[in-house]
Amino acid sequence: MIKYLSSGNLKKFAGKTCLLRIDLNVELGMPLDSYRLEAIIPTVQLLLKSNVRVVLMSHRGRPKGFDKELSLRPFTKIIAKKIGCPVAFLDDSDPGTAKKEIASSEAGNVFLLENLRFLSGEEKNDEELAKQLASLGDFYVNDAFAVSHRADASIAAITKFLPSYAGLLLEKEVKNLNKVMKGSGHPFTVIVGGAKVSDKLGVVRYFWKRADDFLIGGSPANTFLEAEGMDVGDSLVDTDAVPMILPYLNAKKIHLPEDVKYRSTKILDVGPKTVKAYAEMIKRSKTIVWNGPMGWFERKGFGNGTRGIWKAILGNKKAHIVVGGGETVTSLRTLYPKRCLPGSNIFLSTGGGAMLDYLSGKKLPGIEALK
Ligand code: 3PG
Repeated sequence: MIKYLSSGNLKKFAGKTCLLRIDLNVELGMPLDSYRLEAIIPTVQLLLKSNVRVVLMSHRGRPKGFDKELSLRPFTKIIAKKIGCPVAFLDDSDPGTAKKEIASSEAGNVFLLENLRFLSGEEKNDEELAKQLASLGDFYVNDAFAVSHRADASIAAITKFLPSYAGLLLEKEVKNLNKVMKGSGHPFTVIVGGAKVSDKLGVVRYFWKRADDFLIGGSPANTFLEAEGMDVGDSLVDTDAVPMILPYLNAKKIHLPEDVKYRSTKILDVGPKTVKAYAEMIKRSKTIVWNGPMGWFERKGFGNGTRGIWKAILGNKKAHIVVGGGETVTSLRTLYPKRCLPGSNIFLSTGGGAMLDYLSGKKLPGIEALK
């Protein structure tokens, strides 16, 4: 059983130190940043309210050793502004000093450790590193759903050394994804776009019997169309995935674009007839899972497919809807810059690969470790 921070009596943690794993794997300045950052704030605030010292830990990028560009130092100011109190940066090259600094600080202080992937043991799930990190705190909270599909030291091994809990964000992710996985409301529609169809096949397989319709766009659509014999020119196609999609070709549940928009010889978006047909199906759906934009929405003239899907999604106030994948979430802010807030029936997942793995029925190491 996962222990949720929300259901425990937090009074017992007053004066203690929490190691809080978050996901700051963002490119500063992109719309997803503020979304991923905002998502971690409630847990930090809950801990501060309970008079707990908070040590934030995260990875960023895929560095091989120290890389100044991927330092977490710039996040101290950003997080401090969001939570309204100072955040001290701890360079993790000297855990002994960090430990002393944390232990001698007042309850309710916030620290941020340097990028954990600068440490060689992080991605190896190294127990020594996990033990060293664990020595900095009294209990551990995982609020990094987006990296919970990685067996990393700060995600998995660390739980062997400290009482461990799921934070508010992780709880929200798991509960919302579980709800769509039960798939009680029909029609149940799965929308698949983005880049590689092979990354999404696990989700198609998992929902194949449960869902009623699969609306395909983006590069997955190009791959399906090519496999059906259409000449897609120089469009992005996941050629290696063609044998894997053969069982789904011509299936009634699979919906492919009726029309597409080209730039020169490349398909960069779905066309208006497709948007209309997909929007109709979205409108009558009771459960929706969406991962991957319909086209190259960042490019002027090719955002209409993704915009049309958002419009239909935002207009459906009854369905339980889960949208995920960094690009898909980012596309809402890009295509609707005048801050359009999704209704409470729409859950925006912070997970990319983690969401796809979870929705494929895989066990995530970070979640298993909490059980
Ligand atoms: C993500 O952005 O999907 C997570 O932070 C995981 O990052 P990774 O793919 O580099 O492990």
